[in-house]
Amino acid sequence: MKIVTIVGARPQFVKAAIFSKEFRKNNTEILVHTGQHYDANMSDIFFEELNIPKPNYNLGIGSGTHGKQTAKMLEGIEEILIKEKPDGLLVYGDTNSTLAGALAASKLIIPVFHIEAGLRSYDMKMPEEQNRILTDHISKLLFCPTQTAVNNLKKEGIVAGVINSGDIMYDSVLHYTSLSEKKYKDGKWIEEIEKENQINLDIKIKNYYLATIHRQSNTDDENNLKKIFEALNKLNKPVIMPLHPRTLKKVKELNINVDNITVIKPVGYLMMLYLTKNSFMVITDSGGLQKEAYFLKVPCTTLRDQTEWVETLEDNWNVICKIDVEIIIKNINRNLDFLNKEQPKKFGDSNSANIIIDVLLKEFRK
Ligand code: UD1
Repeated sequence: MKIVTIVGARPQFVKAAIFSKEFRKNNTEILVHTGQHYDANMSDIFFEELNIPKPNYNLGIGSGTHGKQTAKMLEGIEEILIKEKPDGLLVYGDTNSTLAGALAASKLIIPVFHIEAGLRSYDMKMPEEQNRILTDHISKLLFCPTQTAVNNLKKEGIVAGVINSGDIMYDSVLHYTSLSEKKYKDGKWIEEIEKENQINLDIKIKNYYLATIHRQSNTDDENNLKKIFEALNKLNKPVIMPLHPRTLKKVKELNINVDNITVIKPVGYLMMLYLTKNSFMVITDSGGLQKEAYFLKVPCTTLRDQTEWVETLEDNWNVICKIDVEIIIKNINRNLDFLNKEQPKKFGDSNSANIIIDVLLKEFRK
């Protein structure tokens, strides 16, 4: 079977790292990088340390308004699909690269396979929500990470081609955590952060908060961004914050105080897993990180009104909270009794890549 796979942003590199290795054992994959993420520590580092095959094409699209970025990708991907004539096109998640890929293939009547289908925040103002709904409605096979995602699709009348494959991110967290531990044990993580950022780091395992902020609803709303940093500045443990370039730009523009926060450059996946596993709590607006924290049994406070990953809210492993200084601090300081509880198995058995490949091959042989 020959497929074209589209990647463009960090969370997609992580999923491709797991899927591509397995799929390529007996099949052909043409990997297209749209270039949505392009800084070395937003893209190259993932390919290097996770051993992701070098993309066959890099469209080098870069940043832009949503319309411009998506349109340029659509044009580039269409050309590749016409040339490569694949049996299908595979996309991950909910970024502009996902939608552009799905749309290009759909117009050429090439079957679309969507990994991480069926997630909903029910907030159409989020660009990601628009991308996921549109992609799901033009996909032939929809690989859902959870039963909730399957149910969400059913509510929209999508039942054909829907498979609960478990969460490929669960595969990847389990696979890469041991590598991450090996690479960064014995204080090597501190050495690397100090060297990369030219700082001295006084931080102890399980005694710091790991924070990330990059959602448009937080970065592009001056009030929200200021309130988030005000709350983080008031916490009673060190806060370490690998900052997305978009957020860093805003923090500088608005002259936001980061005195009590260790702001560092974005980090690769192995470092992120290490920082997550060893943190006291994760504070984030990322979708993927909420789940990584959950899989690693670390509490998470999510700075958003809703989450697509509702399973993580059970027992308060994860809580969503309004952007208000007092509410944020109160949620971060919540009772953590749940830490001794078993987590129900709702994200599959960490063999999701193989389940997906079996279904793809069955479809191909039809
Ligand atoms: C994108 C996805 C989001 C995903 C996130 C993962 C969309 C709509 N959003 O958000 O779903 O959770 O990736 O990280 O597709 N920039 C750089 N260097 C880079 C990349 C971005 O400086 O390598 C800056 C640019 O100023 C750019 C901004 O970040 O305009 C936003 O980047 P963009 O790719 O549009 O969205 P993300 O916020 O990264």
